[in-house]
Amino acid sequence: MKKTQWYKDAVCYQIWPRSFCDGNGDGIGDLEGVLSKLDYLQDLGINCIWFSPLYCSPNADMGYDISDYRNISPDHGDNELFKKVLDEAHKRGIKVIMDLVVNHTSDEHEWFVKGIDKNSKYHDYYHWRDGKGNKNPNNWSSLFEGKAWEYNKENGQYYLHLFSKKQPDLKMENPEVRKEVKEIMKYWLDMGVDGFREDVITFTSKRDGLPNGFPIPQACGMEHYKDGPRIHEFLSEFREVLDDYDCFVVGEAPLMTPKNALKYIEEKPGQELDMMFHFQHMEADCIFMDCLNKPFSLKQLKKVFSNWQESLYGKAWNALYMENHDHPRIINRYGSVEYREESAKSIANSYMLQCGTPFVYQGQELGMINIDLPNVEDYQDIFAVNNAKTLKLFGFSDAKIEERLKTSSRGNARTPVQWDDTDNAGFTTGTPWMPVNPSYKDGINAKAEIADPNSVYNHYKALIKFRKENPIAVYGKYKEYCKSSKELYVYERTYEGKKMLVICSYSDKAADFKAPAGYDLSKGKAILCNYETNPVSANGFTTRPYETRVYVFD
Ligand code: GLC
Ligand code: CA
Repeated sequence: MKKTQWYKDAVCYQIWPRSFCDGNGDGIGDLEGVLSKLDYLQDLGINCIWFSPLYCSPNADMGYDISDYRNISPDHGDNELFKKVLDEAHKRGIKVIMDLVVNHTSDEHEWFVKGIDKNSKYHDYYHWRDGKGNKNPNNWSSLFEGKAWEYNKENGQYYLHLFSKKQPDLKMENPEVRKEVKEIMKYWLDMGVDGFREDVITFTSKRDGLPNGFPIPQACGMEHYKDGPRIHEFLSEFREVLDDYDCFVVGEAPLMTPKNALKYIEEKPGQELDMMFHFQHMEADCIFMDCLNKPFSLKQLKKVFSNWQESLYGKAWNALYMENHDHPRIINRYGSVEYREESAKSIANSYMLQCGTPFVYQGQELGMINIDLPNVEDYQDIFAVNNAKTLKLFGFSDAKIEERLKTSSRGNARTPVQWDDTDNAGFTTGTPWMPVNPSYKDGINAKAEIADPNSVYNHYKALIKFRKENPIAVYGKYKEYCKSSKELYVYERTYEGKKMLVICSYSDKAADFKAPAGYDLSKGKAILCNYETNPVSANGFTTRPYETRVYVFD
């Protein structure tokens, strides 16, 4: 099969189905809802959808705990309806990739249920171990919920769960498990899907051992499963399946560096993944985890951006994102709610014009913001269980812990998409499974923004159009300027004699921008701006809060 690398020209849109659009009024987003919004997505200009898990799931971790890999959850529809969505998307020139969650299953998956019996072939699908006396096999922690081992009364053994207790880890070392994974991939690819986003894929090879490294309590033991000993072997094996299709795979990879990433994504024979979702640029206001916050540092963000751009250029392809279902809204983190529209646009220009494939998360194109709910539980995020413990260990007061859990919760990104200003923002005619952010009444909704030429939505739309029409935005070489500025992020792209200069303020303070040597701003055309462009004097200008401009030179 000839690979076309179509994904390099794509702009992807992530749908987190539960909160996208409800078609049948039960308060839960579904595929009927998606169908009704395909024209919206086509109009926005995106040409690939990534669906967060749509499969059957008891929802201990909102779909990331799968009990049946081959069937769409009745909450969202059924396989026939999915096929219809797939066909309708394809008709509109939109590809579709699925989430592949194979580090773990749900404890309600039949493999796990049957495998409790030590004589079942499924027993060896998971990491079952005897305890040490009446203690856990080792002292690893789970990322979500207490220790990484859970005792099972029926067989007297412990099973490994790196995430919640309801997410037992699969034993990828077992060739039967890998065979299952390959068959699942084939099943969806044969149906017509165009690739996968592979959930925490770099955690799937485990090695025994006692912890000696990670400073964060819930990562205790991670050095034995992050980029584990057989990971490259496993991914190469999966690639054999993928090579029969013109598809792409993007792997989620916590704590990934560019140097390490190249081992997975370098474009040479044996390449395992096409792209990688790393987390480094998501840590400019926190220490590894959103709940351990620190003041936002633009300099840190810029360093990460440039490191990935420079390390991968000509060798591998970047996946570009600022939001997904695992982090609070970016405006609240790196931007400003006070300058919501300005900062949303500046952030958009700053990452979507880098070299790589941009991903936009549902509602990001509307400039959606965090929600303020009375209780931590209202955010419905299992991550909070461990985060509360970690914050306590770090000495935070109870009041501060509560505040941190709310502002860092993944629930902030999971409120229903705001479609219009009718009840429940037009998300559902019933009772939404999660509260709708009241900000839909203040103009943050698709209907109002489509009508407003200066909206965040229309900025994204123009940006996507520009990227599609200008190869410089996709393939151009990257160079950063003004590196020491604490307010401005500035970079150029160059391609086939053309140049483009991207200027983004990440500050509400005025900053003096001076064009780099060799640039004459008066000869460029300013596009994708978020203010009226005032006359350029002396080859520079003073930025207004979160001002952004892109100068193109032919
Ligand atoms: C990934 C997903 C996240 C999920 C976790 C466990 O990080 O993005 O939502 O909770 O894996 O599956
Ligand atoms: Ca529904």
